[in-house]
Amino acid sequence: MATMTSEPLTLPSLGFGTYKLRGEEGRSSVTTALELGYRLIDAAYNYENEGTVGAGIRDAVTAGTVSRDEVIYTTKLPGRYQRREDALDTVAESVWRAGIGPVDLYLIHWPNPGQGLYVEAWKALIEARDRGLVRHIGVCNFLPEHLSRLEDETGVLPEVNQIELHPSFPQNEPLAGAPEGALAWNTEHGIITESWSPLGRGTSLDSEPVRAAAAAHDATPGQVILAWHRALGAVAIPKASSRARQQENLESLQLELTDAEIAAITALGRPDGRLNDQDPAVYEEF
Ligand SMILES: NC(=O)c1ccc[n+]([C@@H]2O[C@H](COP(=O)([O-])OP(=O)(O)OC[C@H]3O[C@@H](n4cnc5c(N)ncnc54)[C@H](OP(=O)(O)O)[C@@H]3O)[C@@H](O)[C@H]2O)c1
Repeated sequence: MATMTSEPLTLPSLGFGTYKLRGEEGRSSVTTALELGYRLIDAAYNYENEGTVGAGIRDAVTAGTVSRDEVIYTTKLPGRYQRREDALDTVAESVWRAGIGPVDLYLIHWPNPGQGLYVEAWKALIEARDRGLVRHIGVCNFLPEHLSRLEDETGVLPEVNQIELHPSFPQNEPLAGAPEGALAWNTEHGIITESWSPLGRGTSLDSEPVRAAAAAHDATPGQVILAWHRALGAVAIPKASSRARQQENLESLQLELTDAEIAAITALGRPDGRLNDQDPAVYEEF
């Protein structure tokens, strides 16, 4: 299904997460990430850091480190604002808070199926895009059944689906209408998968296959996991406060794992491997 943007979205293989980055420290973390070479920056209305992230991006642009049009600034619509009027006001508020012009990628944060408003929210994002407030639109945490409904009711599929994906939960388990799992379903439908909590917030760094691959490649466990995401075809958005870790994570782009290493890490997956049991079929966030 074609989307209606003038140019298709392409993303770098690695992005930068900003959950919990706020204030002066958060601002300088974002500027440093841009200096080092990150171009995809992931914020959210509910992280209460759109101002912080916008300021960090403006600092980097002012310093000449990056031009505004090279940055893909992402933010997200909270569950409590899925009604059309609320959604359009929230998008405008996001734009003003960051202060860097139209948002490059705007995502619905959670489908909240019990609330029954995600199609209305999606129509509002289509409208926001058509009005020029945002450039590209997508979703987070949408299951294939939610995505199919968007396509059936609007004819527009999201360009991105940002989902929980890490070694404990590789998103390869069969789901209703998606026998190979959510990652494969997204790919088959031309939707870019972004992995949230790609390092599992640290939970898989110590696992045997990750340590073995790290030793074999003279790499760090974090680099191995990020190279694994790339091998699966998912865009990881690790959060890292310090310059050293930001750099470490970027260097994962030089690491190529073997098929056996990739398979061994994927085999760490468990049906109950979500970090906080947030199954989008039932979990809701506002
Ligand atoms: N759409 C959604 O519903 C959703 C949900 C959750 C997250 N997200 C997005 O995804 C981003 C990433 O997820 P996350 O922040 O939950 O978890 P994460 O990126 O998996 O892990 C972040 C943690 O790992 C540490 N870390 C970073 N690089 C490391 C390395 N190389 N080795 C060891 N530890 C390392 C960080 O510490 P320091 O910061 O101290 O370096 C931080 O404590 C978020 O920031 C947010 O943008 C989206």
